[in-house]
Amino acid sequence: MASTVGEWLAQARTLGVDRLDAQLLLARHLGRPRSWLLAHGEAEVPPAAQASLGVDLERRAAGAPLAYLTGEREFHGLMLRVTPAVLVPRPETELLVDWALALLGQQERAEVVDLGTGCGAIALALAHRRPSIAVTATDLSAEALEVARMNAHRLDLSVEFVAGPWWTPLAGRRFDLAICNPPYIAGADPHLNALAHEPRAALTPEGDGLAALRAVAAGAAARLRPGGWLLLEHGHNQGDAVRALLAGGGLEAIETRADLAGRQRASCGRRPGSAGATPPRDAPQQQVPIVADRRDSGGCAPCRTSA
Ligand SMILES: C[S@@+](CC[C@H](N)C(=O)[O-])C[C@H]1O[C@@H](n2cnc3c(N)ncnc32)[C@H](O)[C@@H]1O
Repeated sequence: MASTVGEWLAQARTLGVDRLDAQLLLARHLGRPRSWLLAHGEAEVPPAAQASLGVDLERRAAGAPLAYLTGEREFHGLMLRVTPAVLVPRPETELLVDWALALLGQQERAEVVDLGTGCGAIALALAHRRPSIAVTATDLSAEALEVARMNAHRLDLSVEFVAGPWWTPLAGRRFDLAICNPPYIAGADPHLNALAHEPRAALTPEGDGLAALRAVAAGAAARLRPGGWLLLEHGHNQGDAVRALLAGGGLEAIETRADLAGRQRASCGRRPGSAGATPPRDAPQQQVPIVADRRDSGGCAPCRTSA
């Protein structure tokens, strides 16, 4: 039976838990910084901490995301609370936030909506970086909105939260920018098996994976001001389909960008009209040719960064 820090780390290795994850869990249960562990391999783990530490290591070994065990995940410089009611925010989604900030430029009075906000990651990052803009966030899941509200409260950021499917609860309103990381994994995609700890409705709309992207693209022109932008995250093999959906929804200036791994990850389109600006070409190295690579079936960011 493990009792010291070193023995617990060895036990975690036996279970197949990544060393960094084991250190982070151990540090959390001991109330110490991770750096403390490095010099205290002989220190005893108090009996009171051992039972819950053992449970967490078992859960991590069974695939539970580290963020659910620690209860938090950093996103765009903000430490967010996460629970199993929400998708764990992925680093790839920060691309979407950066792109939105570039499109907003120095506008001070813009109205922005984050559709399917989950724990509030995108909405809160935008509210944090541009305190003068009005940010609304929606989700179908009441439990997710509860987590997002808690994060807004803890971070003292102002976001309006609205419950309901995609554009439905926003009838009669207009936005300068809409941003959405919808569920986009196909229902039969085997990668979903490795993501079973996260809410299925946050990962897949079932079918071909495009239903949510279709609904959001189709409703955008009616809810955007002339010149307003829609930004969508999608799977790397969905670029062709999403550009067609944006064009079919009446949007123009359609563009796709890649993530740091060079995979098509997000696309934007603009409602025709005079108010919008040309999208800033601030990161030309991230722009990709409008050609989809269909060779790799692991098309979703969640599939690659589930922990
Ligand atoms: C991929 S998660 C994105 C969460 C968060 N925006 C992020 O980037 O980490 C998709 C979110 O869309 C929500 N969702 C699923 N179906 C929806 C619908 N029909 N209308 C509104 N939100 C929906 C899910 O509850 C989930 O929070």
